[in-house]
Amino acid sequence: MNLLVTGGSGFIGSNFIRYLLTETDFNGRIINVDCLTYAGNPENLSDIEAHFSDRYVFVKEDICHQEEMAKIFDYYSIDVICHFAAESHVDRSIAAPDAFVQTNIFGTYTLLELARKRMHHIKRFHHISTDEVYGSLGKSGYFSETSPYQPTSPYSASKAASDHLVRAYFHTYGLPVTLSNCSNNYGPYQFPEKLIPLMILNALAGKPLPVYGDGRNIRDWLYVRDHSAALWTILENGEIGETYNIGGNCELENIRLVEQICEIIDNLETLQFNTPRKDLITFVTDRPGHDRRYAIDASKIKADLKWAPKTPIEQGLRETIGWYINNQEWVNRVISGEYRSWIEQHYNF
Ligand code: NAD
Ligand code: DAU
Repeated sequence: MNLLVTGGSGFIGSNFIRYLLTETDFNGRIINVDCLTYAGNPENLSDIEAHFSDRYVFVKEDICHQEEMAKIFDYYSIDVICHFAAESHVDRSIAAPDAFVQTNIFGTYTLLELARKRMHHIKRFHHISTDEVYGSLGKSGYFSETSPYQPTSPYSASKAASDHLVRAYFHTYGLPVTLSNCSNNYGPYQFPEKLIPLMILNALAGKPLPVYGDGRNIRDWLYVRDHSAALWTILENGEIGETYNIGGNCELENIRLVEQICEIIDNLETLQFNTPRKDLITFVTDRPGHDRRYAIDASKIKADLKWAPKTPIEQGLRETIGWYINNQEWVNRVISGEYRSWIEQHYNF
């Protein structure tokens, strides 16, 4: 298998590549194409690059560049695509939607066209999407694969558009696609603009913990390694044309989650602090159009592909907090933007 992973230098993509090469029987080659936006950091995989030099290749390219991407498809004889590359942060999409429309919609279209033109050779196009395409839930109910699409932010609208395009290429051209819509991920290497790493780093530094609105919005949290396992299961056994919802079966109000992070950090003996960290919680102006509740019904992937989340939130949070504490250098370099100079030195970009 010559597996094209787009966006493999971001949070989930880099965890997925690491998982595939170190924890599964995958024996093919990975071609990671990433244009390295602020969220892409090839340092996430520098050890992988060194240890798997015969089976892992990094190519810096923008998925929207059709001619360059065509060369990559042909040169590496790509037969399977796992498409992560996206602008992924809701707050950024509210401030500046352009890049979301470009990468998430036009970038996905570009890849679909390249795959369609090589239909004889392409075995699978897997599209990674989000539960946010379904909009917001009330107090009860769950998102299933047949829930109507009701995206509410420029981010979720752009992901919804990309999902529709992927399905259209299956129905119209017979492109062998699968899709997955996943709930909120957390774990190592997550860029500290997202709730969990932001709260961990601010709590460790004794800085304010900004909670939007009343803090009662609910997300369904999934450890990123469990997401990687689900994706590999779909790639191996998922049925062509099907969509699989992936969730953590772990609904939490934001405020409870932040308090839990504070308690874990307070209880780490090595990190004594003079006041309980939850005193750092600061309620701030709400995100415009903030979706109230997400919760995934993952019964289809459980029944059909025997996948279920394995990591309880307490364990996942402990591992994640431990990772951020033990990888202070990564954190400092990401926060200071210094990893940009590493990119220049290492890749001569
Ligand atoms: P991320 O922002 O951490 O990483 C995105 C990666 O894509 C980065 O490495 C970036 O450089 C790259 N990229 C962006 N634009 C590109 C372009 N035009 N060409 C090539 N590369 C480009 O995102 P993430 O959190 O790892 O999310 C990965 C995917 O999973 C996204 O499609 C996202 O919508 C989806 N998803 C994320 C979550 C979550 O909780 N993070 C949950 C469900 C689904
Ligand atoms: O549901 C899947 C989605 O989860 C993915 O598709 C997105 O790519 C990913 O970014 C994530 O979106 P959210 O908007 O849910 O994640 P975020 O970490 O930005 O916020 C989680 C919740 O925490 C949300 O209710 C907003 C709130 N929040 C967030 C930040 C950054 C705060 O209260 N304070 C904050 O500072």
